[in-house]
Amino acid sequence: MNSYSAFAYVYDQLMDDVDYIGWVDYLEEIFKRYNKRPKNIVELACGTGNITNILAKRGYNLIGVDISEDMLFVAQEKARAMGVDVIYLNHDMRELFLPSELDSILCICDGINYIIDEKDLLNVFSSVYNHLKDKGLFIFDISSYYKLSNILGNNTYAENFQEVSYIWENYFDEEQATCDFDLTIFIKEGDLYKKHEESHCQRAYKENEIIEKLKEVGFHKIETFEAFTFSKPKNKSERIYFVCEK
Ligand SMILES: C[S@@+](CC[C@H](N)C(=O)[O-])C[C@H]1O[C@@H](n2cnc3c(N)ncnc32)[C@H](O)[C@@H]1O
Repeated sequence: MNSYSAFAYVYDQLMDDVDYIGWVDYLEEIFKRYNKRPKNIVELACGTGNITNILAKRGYNLIGVDISEDMLFVAQEKARAMGVDVIYLNHDMRELFLPSELDSILCICDGINYIIDEKDLLNVFSSVYNHLKDKGLFIFDISSYYKLSNILGNNTYAENFQEVSYIWENYFDEEQATCDFDLTIFIKEGDLYKKHEESHCQRAYKENEIIEKLKEVGFHKIETFEAFTFSKPKNKSERIYFVCEK
């Protein structure tokens, strides 16, 4: 079952309460904190371009990469409507072929949680390292182990809107440290609703596991923050930011 296929077309509606402008402000604060003025930026797992298009509108050169053609279709439509030029590439971030010497590489809102296999994670990090110029920044976030195991895991969420409704059932596997999301989405078509089903799987990583892997590929200047702050992550932080300078 594909991830982010039917879901792609309702993703933005379901993420309606997310403050993407504030999110991009935070990324720019990180650039400032590190005295960077990046020009060429790649966003991995860019989805429907919520972050990508806003950054492009603010004058950065953006390439957005995602494994889902449907998410990219929506991203491109939005870029056109916003009058911004973004190159969108349908790639799996586990096999990256990008222009090298990038100023910054981003992976925002869980992209890294979708890398289940530790060897793949090492490949992603190593390839990011090789595509960055010296002193370039790799910025990404994860949903924390705490969030996937204690909040989302073994819980069911549902919302019911006029055009779309969904049921989101989650199962956390302690042994594999993975959270399976089973999504059932009902999208209005005329007077009826069509049922779509898809499954996603995210890996719950502990902060130290990730830091070890980043060091293994060559990153040594690494800071972690509780999302949208510059404070250290806490036991119950739900989103953790990693900022790595090459
Ligand atoms: C939660 S969405 C985040 C989208 C976007 N960054 C945002 O902030 O709205 C996660 C995205 O990761 C993408 N993804 C998952 N695995 C991927 C992979 N191996 N390579 C590239 N993209 C991937 C999915 O297609 C999806 O668009």
